[in-house]
Amino acid sequence: MSTVYLNGEYIPKDEAKISVDDRGFLFADGVYEVTPFYEGVPFYLDRHMARLRRGLAWMRIDYDVDQLDEIHRQLLIRNGVDGAETSIVYLQITRGVAPRSHPFPTTPVPPTVYCFAKAWQRPSAEDFERGFRAVTIPDRRWARVDIKTIALLPNVLAYQAAVDAGVTDAIQVRDGVALEGAHNNLFGVFDGTVVTHPATNVILPGITRGVVLELARENGVPVDERPILVEELADADELFFTGTTSEVRPTTQVDGRPVGDGRVGPVTRALAKGFARHVERVKEGMRSEAV
Ligand code: PDD
Repeated sequence: MSTVYLNGEYIPKDEAKISVDDRGFLFADGVYEVTPFYEGVPFYLDRHMARLRRGLAWMRIDYDVDQLDEIHRQLLIRNGVDGAETSIVYLQITRGVAPRSHPFPTTPVPPTVYCFAKAWQRPSAEDFERGFRAVTIPDRRWARVDIKTIALLPNVLAYQAAVDAGVTDAIQVRDGVALEGAHNNLFGVFDGTVVTHPATNVILPGITRGVVLELARENGVPVDERPILVEELADADELFFTGTTSEVRPTTQVDGRPVGDGRVGPVTRALAKGFARHVERVKEGMRSEAV
């Protein structure tokens, strides 16, 4: 039985109870984060917490984010995944419990804070080599996708469309632009330039996206943050997704058509290797700081 964190307590998951009046349940009135850990070492926890802080401020939910670092650490240890090669901590904060009424509660209520930790598995080297397949689907989300709210129905439907099509990923398309995946950011490679949508209100500013852009720039790979038109997908030399549990994930087929020559391309491969090396550096850095 896993141990979860709920409102100040570490408890067995089956003892965790949330009120039917929780505004997360009634209105999806909350935000969340998913932060990666490698052998228990946090990977850009500060950036995940900064994005969370921004979301909470915009939603006008009052919560002190500073206490979360220790909660993340405790959950990894208490669930025995602090040594796992790859793990995540999921965190959700809702506006709290109040009788159902659309506006914010007139008397402030404490937010509901829930976290769990779990290990996850990278795809095998063979699966990576084969690359992953995606379908395009209409983006049905609202106008503030940059806020990481728990209102994920369109993302759920997008992911399910991929599963129904027997593929791994969905590319969400709005106004002729291929924006991002159901739970990851989309990149294309065109004549050696790495292209991804700018961090505006129509995509989530992925932490992995930011790290991959930095690594590309540091290594002299040309980068262009601009919209990718859906018609351009057919001309891309390479496509890949980035995300906390996707890392750098090559896409070799979209809507049944091969991307480029249908194999994992050199730029994606180099960035995936660079990302893996960067993970090792972060792990080493944190370890030497701890000594
Ligand atoms: N998803 N775009 C969307 C719509 C996302 O939901 C996510 C993250 C990303 C990538 O962000 P990051 O690199 O910070 O993980 C992009 C999380 C992991 C999830 O819902 O599970």
